[in-house]
Amino acid sequence: MSSTSLTGIPVGRLTGLVAIAALVSLILLYFWTSPLTSCPPRLPQLKQHSDGHHEEMNNSIADETVEKPVLLLWVWPENYRFDLKDCKTLYNIDGCHLTDDRALYSSSDAVLVFHRAISWDLSTLPPSPRPPFQKWIWLHLESPTNTQKIPGIENLFNLTLSYREDADIPVRLRLTSNKTPNEDFTIPKKDKLVCWIVSNNAAHTGVGKRNTYYNELKKYITVHMFGSAYAGRLSDEDYYPTIASCKFYLSFENSIHKDYITEKFNGPLSAGTVPVVLGPPRKNYERFAPRDAFIHVDDFPDAKSLAEYLTQLDRDEDAYRRYFNWRRHFSARPHLILQNQEFVLAICTACDHVARHKEYQEAHDIYEWFFN
Ligand SMILES: *[C@@H]1O[C@H](CO)[C@@H](O)[C@H](O)[C@H]1NC(C)=O
Ligand SMILES: *[C@@H]1O[C@H](CO)[C@@H](O)[C@H](O)[C@H]1NC(C)=O
Repeated sequence: MSSTSLTGIPVGRLTGLVAIAALVSLILLYFWTSPLTSCPPRLPQLKQHSDGHHEEMNNSIADETVEKPVLLLWVWPENYRFDLKDCKTLYNIDGCHLTDDRALYSSSDAVLVFHRAISWDLSTLPPSPRPPFQKWIWLHLESPTNTQKIPGIENLFNLTLSYREDADIPVRLRLTSNKTPNEDFTIPKKDKLVCWIVSNNAAHTGVGKRNTYYNELKKYITVHMFGSAYAGRLSDEDYYPTIASCKFYLSFENSIHKDYITEKFNGPLSAGTVPVVLGPPRKNYERFAPRDAFIHVDDFPDAKSLAEYLTQLDRDEDAYRRYFNWRRHFSARPHLILQNQEFVLAICTACDHVARHKEYQEAHDIYEWFFN
């Protein structure tokens, strides 16, 4: 005969309920705390915190950040502001107390300084002397071709934050491996063959090679052009759908440097389009994506043979489909915060770094590293 608890529910059943509740909590805990790589891909909505947890939080988060290192964002890169809680929402990063409040300067463990906001007379730098425990982080995502060498800042920074893999804090949105093979990926509907979004053709000095290649390529195949350098700027909402509607996307970097593989590559990968890349050698790309996920211009002797190959893939559905086989084993996350989205990832990555690395690090010559 089973005994009965005070509530009238048999004890056996009550134990079962408790066990289920514990299991559910464990699962929830797992998803709240699991690191970036095991997050399921999701489409984040900025500034809309749909889960109640975030509604309750407000700007007075001091009590829960007592032990977290303070990371001060000295200026907002390109004046692009976002909700500092997005690091938690988008990337599950909240190991630091991220702030833009300069009043916290003297108690900040680290200060993020955006290279392009440093004035020639250095007056826009944080004040010196800095507190002895404080690290300055050099935030710069451009390639050397597009970098102004401002004199006088060589030996100020304890840490570098860059797209380069050998930076102290490398910034990159990486593919995540699927725990179990995913058979569900469907290639988005296509109504264009080759597309290219170009936002900024004149401002960069290193665009020579990509324009030369494009001018040659377009003789043999139609390329649909988008972006402010051509048909007008694409809205954020139209960006991924536009890329997704093309079979191939020209992921042509504005300058060619090791590891300089940007959103131009990640965008089409996550949208479900085959990137045709022009940038560092194929081997460099293969460090970040499977070899059969993209086409490299160097795989062909010239633009004409590339055009012929793309035309041939257009007629051969099975061969085209093989460029998505990697999707069984990996997922690619879109950013979805299009404008200056790279800065959100960069700032959050810095937050994660300072939370994990407390050790002393003397400044090193950033230019000697960056320009060599
Ligand atoms: C934040 O929370 C505190 C304490 O709960 C409250 O007094 C304050 O009004 C809240 N601020 C905002 C901006 O909601
Ligand atoms: C950062 O670098 C500066 C300059 O080399 C040095 O004085 C300072 O102690 C370093 N700080 C930390 C916390 O590593």
